[in-house]
Amino acid sequence: MKNNQNHHPAPMISLFKLFNPPLHLTNLLTVMLIFAFGSCFGIFLTFNLQNVSFNFNFTQFSHPNTSTATAVSDPPMHDMTDEEVIWRASMAPKVRDYPFERTPKVAFMFLTRGPVVLAPLWERFFNGNDGLYSVYVHSSDSSANVTVPEDSVFYGRRIPSKDVEWGKVNMIEAERRLLANALLDFSNQRFVLLSEACIPLFNFSTVYTYLINSKHNFVESYDLEGPVGRGRYSNKMAPTIDIEEWRKGSQWFEMERDLAIEVISDKNYFSVFHDFCDGQCYSDEHYLPTFVTKLFGETNANRTLTFVDWARGGPHPTKYTRNDVTEEFLVKLRNDRSCEYNGKKNQICHLFARKFTSHALDRLLRIAPKLMQFNL
Ligand SMILES: *[C@@H]1O[C@H](CO)[C@@H](O)[C@H](O)[C@H]1NC(C)=O
Ligand SMILES: *[C@@H]1O[C@H](CO)[C@@H](O)[C@H](O)[C@H]1NC(C)=O
Ligand SMILES: *[C@@H]1O[C@H](CO)[C@@H](O)[C@H](O)[C@H]1NC(C)=O
Ligand SMILES: *[C@@H]1O[C@H](CO)[C@@H](O)[C@H](O)[C@H]1NC(C)=O
Ligand SMILES: *[C@@H]1O[C@H](CO)[C@@H](O)[C@H](O)[C@H]1NC(C)=O
Repeated sequence: MKNNQNHHPAPMISLFKLFNPPLHLTNLLTVMLIFAFGSCFGIFLTFNLQNVSFNFNFTQFSHPNTSTATAVSDPPMHDMTDEEVIWRASMAPKVRDYPFERTPKVAFMFLTRGPVVLAPLWERFFNGNDGLYSVYVHSSDSSANVTVPEDSVFYGRRIPSKDVEWGKVNMIEAERRLLANALLDFSNQRFVLLSEACIPLFNFSTVYTYLINSKHNFVESYDLEGPVGRGRYSNKMAPTIDIEEWRKGSQWFEMERDLAIEVISDKNYFSVFHDFCDGQCYSDEHYLPTFVTKLFGETNANRTLTFVDWARGGPHPTKYTRNDVTEEFLVKLRNDRSCEYNGKKNQICHLFARKFTSHALDRLLRIAPKLMQFNL
């Protein structure tokens, strides 16, 4: 070994000597090199400083107080790409104590096709609870935005949205987009995904207390044999995901801030779903249950907070329209059965229910606020 080391440099030196240029040429070359490097560095710096000032000039960073002052904080409209929002939202402060009075908020994230058709019911639900919630709407239909009145809690709350197709992986992208936008507000502590067909089953104070005090996330997760369970797994997902790790569950989740940051930051599992779970695989029913169970299983309650009725069979759950909405029916949904909450038996299993059509709105407005003791 030692011999080898001694032998090699000799021919190199002679080669170098052979091509050694005259002195003035070397100097010229050096000057040109320094100039080129300097120019490149300058251009590089200009571009990056622009980026930095753009990125650290955002309202949430400069005034953490403002978000606690009003319920409807800064409008979620911005011109950041998905990649930029996710990157920014993935930042977590290393100092865990907040240097300002922080009232934790619940982010209500509506994933809709068009407008939030049951908005008048939600308005009643939110009424009088300013500062404890924030609202985000992801709607593929941009015209859905124009009809929202200025005094509505939904006004100006539509985030930059993209097309979503049922069962496609872009559904997960929309969920991640909602989470990332909601994470930009440091006061948001819990994140619940809802559809335009969802209603609340309890008043705001009950929902808020239940979520803020929960020790668990609510991502439904179970292992299911057969074609609509393990049958949707593809061997190509290994070794990132093994068949024993494959889970199924409702798309309608509720989670706390730390898990939300993990979800938007995940590239590894998401890319497997992106590549191998589309169409008949229904990634919205498998991505979160599989990801959360594998990496954060002990934080999960493994159940959903959103009631739905699959009893009639078929690929779609029961839809409730005008005549279905009676006081007895809503009472039944509220007292569904007993569930475990923070390790103890609790009467509340579901805080929300679906699927309600716009035809149910009138009756809901007449019955629900009184039955559920909304702030009137
Ligand atoms: C960035 O900050 C400057 C002053 O601090 C302000 O004039 C400008 O509007 C801000 N830009 C954005 C995008 O917030
Ligand atoms: C932030 O809020 C605290 C109390 O919550 C207040 O004392 C302080 O002045 C506020 N700071 C700003 C910059 O508004
Ligand atoms: C939604 O409406 C608000 C208020 O009119 C407007 O500022 C915003 O640009 C609209 N957003 C979209 C995506 O159309
Ligand atoms: C909310 O509903 C609960 C019963 O579910 C009731 O005890 C409570 O007083 C109500 N809260 C308000 C603010 O009306
Ligand atoms: C949910 O499931 C995970 C893993 O399967 C388990 O570790 C966790 O304890 C379960 N959660 C509850 C509340 O039982």
